[in-house]
Amino acid sequence: MKDKIAIITGAASEIGIGFATARRLGQAGARIAITDIDEARLQDRVSDLKGLDIEAIGFSHDVTSEENWDMVVAGTLSQFGRVDALVNNAGAVHLSPTLEYSVDQWHEQIDTNLSSAFLGCRRVIAEFVRQKSAGSIVNLSSIAGSVGIMHGAAYSASKGGVRLLTKSLALEFARANIRINSVHPGAITTEISQRAKTLAPEQMEAFADAIPMGREGEPEDVAALIAFLVSDDAKYITGAEFCVDGGLTAQ
Ligand SMILES: NC(=O)c1ccc[n+]([C@@H]2O[C@H](COP(=O)([O-])OP(=O)(O)OC[C@H]3O[C@@H](n4cnc5c(N)ncnc54)[C@H](O)[C@@H]3O)[C@@H](O)[C@H]2O)c1
Repeated sequence: MKDKIAIITGAASEIGIGFATARRLGQAGARIAITDIDEARLQDRVSDLKGLDIEAIGFSHDVTSEENWDMVVAGTLSQFGRVDALVNNAGAVHLSPTLEYSVDQWHEQIDTNLSSAFLGCRRVIAEFVRQKSAGSIVNLSSIAGSVGIMHGAAYSASKGGVRLLTKSLALEFARANIRINSVHPGAITTEISQRAKTLAPEQMEAFADAIPMGREGEPEDVAALIAFLVSDDAKYITGAEFCVDGGLTAQ
């Protein structure tokens, strides 16, 4: 990763997958642009990265806004001169029975989790093409993007969309040496999983009981996989999906 430039979205939480990924890539020598809609906490994470001697900048960024994506890419180019990798990590989860789910909530899930990945991929791939360079993108899907989850119709649909968006773009840009893969976490201990436990406690408890390894994963478990996929060690891997779920979907 030495001297590579990576953009990572949704990295404001100290215990989130995005920040764990930023730390991991930064410690491997990459220069990092982190983004989040939660600007105050994002600036704390930029300071944390700098405290680890990682070159980092932060952008206040709504991933559902095309204009915001232009601003993030322009800002990254102006600071670092190029971009080599994108991790589309920002996301949100709303679980509730479908008959109680509003149409607005549906659109919010699809926009935040799926349309955001489309916008990010399109903007950054355009930059890879302009640079005439290889590039790597990792999209955060979920095991809920491969199997359905109770009361998660919109979340599952959004993450299933990310899975196939990834594969279609991978085919389209394979000859340009632009690699795009999806990562599918199971139950990872972060704020999102804590929120899911509040919204659907019984379901999440049953979920946890079903994990063959008998425990939730850590954000670093996901970050390690993302770091591999972004790196040149994964130079022949594209359009692929990878679970990090303690064996949950092997059953
Ligand atoms: N934790 C898990 O168990 C789990 C499981 C499967 C998939 N995932 C996926 O992993 C990714 C990271 O989740 P996490 O668990 O680290 O949760 P998290 O809540 O710590 O991280 C998500 C981040 O996205 C940001 N965000 C939300 N909406 C945004 C927007 N419109 N624009 C910009 N930023 C926005 C939030 O502010 C937050 O910082 C998500 O895409 C999530 O769906 C997580």
